[in-house]
Amino acid sequence: MYSPSNERYSVIPYRRCGASGLKLPVISLGFWHNFGSVDRYENCREIARAAFDHGITHFDLANNYGPVPGSAEQTMGRLLKDDFGVWRDELVISTKAGYHMWEGPYGDFGSRKYLMASCDQSLKRMGLDYVDIFYHHRPDPETPLEESMLALDAIVRSGKALYVGISNYPAPEAARAIAMLRDMKTPFIIHQMRCNMLDRNHERQGLFDLLEREKVGGIAFSPLAQGILTDRYLNGIPNDSRVARGGYLKAAQLTDEVLDKARRLNEFAQKHGRSLAQLALLWVLKRPGMTSALIGASRTSQLLEAVEGIGKGDLETEAWNEVEKMIS
Ligand SMILES: NC(=O)c1ccc[n+]([C@@H]2O[C@H](COP(=O)([O-])OP(=O)(O)OC[C@H]3O[C@@H](n4cnc5c(N)ncnc54)[C@H](OP(=O)(O)O)[C@@H]3O)[C@@H](O)[C@H]2O)c1
Repeated sequence: MYSPSNERYSVIPYRRCGASGLKLPVISLGFWHNFGSVDRYENCREIARAAFDHGITHFDLANNYGPVPGSAEQTMGRLLKDDFGVWRDELVISTKAGYHMWEGPYGDFGSRKYLMASCDQSLKRMGLDYVDIFYHHRPDPETPLEESMLALDAIVRSGKALYVGISNYPAPEAARAIAMLRDMKTPFIIHQMRCNMLDRNHERQGLFDLLEREKVGGIAFSPLAQGILTDRYLNGIPNDSRVARGGYLKAAQLTDEVLDKARRLNEFAQKHGRSLAQLALLWVLKRPGMTSALIGASRTSQLLEAVEGIGKGDLETEAWNEVEKMIS
């Protein structure tokens, strides 16, 4: 029987998610890649156990994670049965709906019909009565925003989620969503966005200022730019990497310009006693209002590297100024 480390709450810090009562670990673990039915269950189990043993209490999912879509939630269900069921109250499990999940007009985007049905399906796949956070995964340009937000509100009020969040909403749409959710007194606490040293779009467009002003937590996905901000691709494309295995990251994204930047950041990180991945996570966690960096991992050692980096503490302001020059 799995027995988690007794030291698990003294490894990494927890940050309050916006103005809510919920705290999240500064590193969270995502199930987008590496936890599907095509992946080896024992590896998933080892990563998830290592995460919890090191205080990573937050596992992030979505209806369509796999492959095949839905299978990452099934893996989560199996993990709960095998190891984590008794620790349910120490875990924050999130899921989402908003991207294509099933055929026909009711399996995509943001209708009440889709969001409510998808939430039920996710709970079934994971064998859960409720998730801690249910997200609308992306804005829907055709469904009235009010309908999607009312669906989130209904999901919480029916007890199927404790909190709700939005993801991939640009600042203007996020501002409207926040206002509606506030009006309804929905326990809305978090926005999940892509944010890393190579992608600062949301930062430039004022999303972080909005979240800080509104006291909404931020959680950054792909903080390592899917592996570009690690040593993974500095000397070619390894056979077992996300790019080689046909994941969401494509070889075409590994341009000379991007790799040059990664190499320079890597040298800088090493000069400061960090790996590139550790530097990238520290940077994300310094964005205003950021609650957690949501990483992926194909093996336990990657997760441990992230945790170890947090333990090394922050860099001096001068060093961050240099980083700023390198990435602007
Ligand atoms: N809301 C949304 O729309 C959305 C979108 C994307 C992601 N997400 C969430 O964010 C989570 C994380 O996204 P992500 O997987 O793209 O995050 P990421 O942390 O930027 O990338 C993770 C990948 O980088 C590589 N890696 C990680 N640590 C490494 C290390 N120390 N050394 C070398 N390589 C390392 C691994 O790739 P290899 O497989 O090559 O080893 C790993 O799978 C997802 O699981 C999901 O929960 C949400």
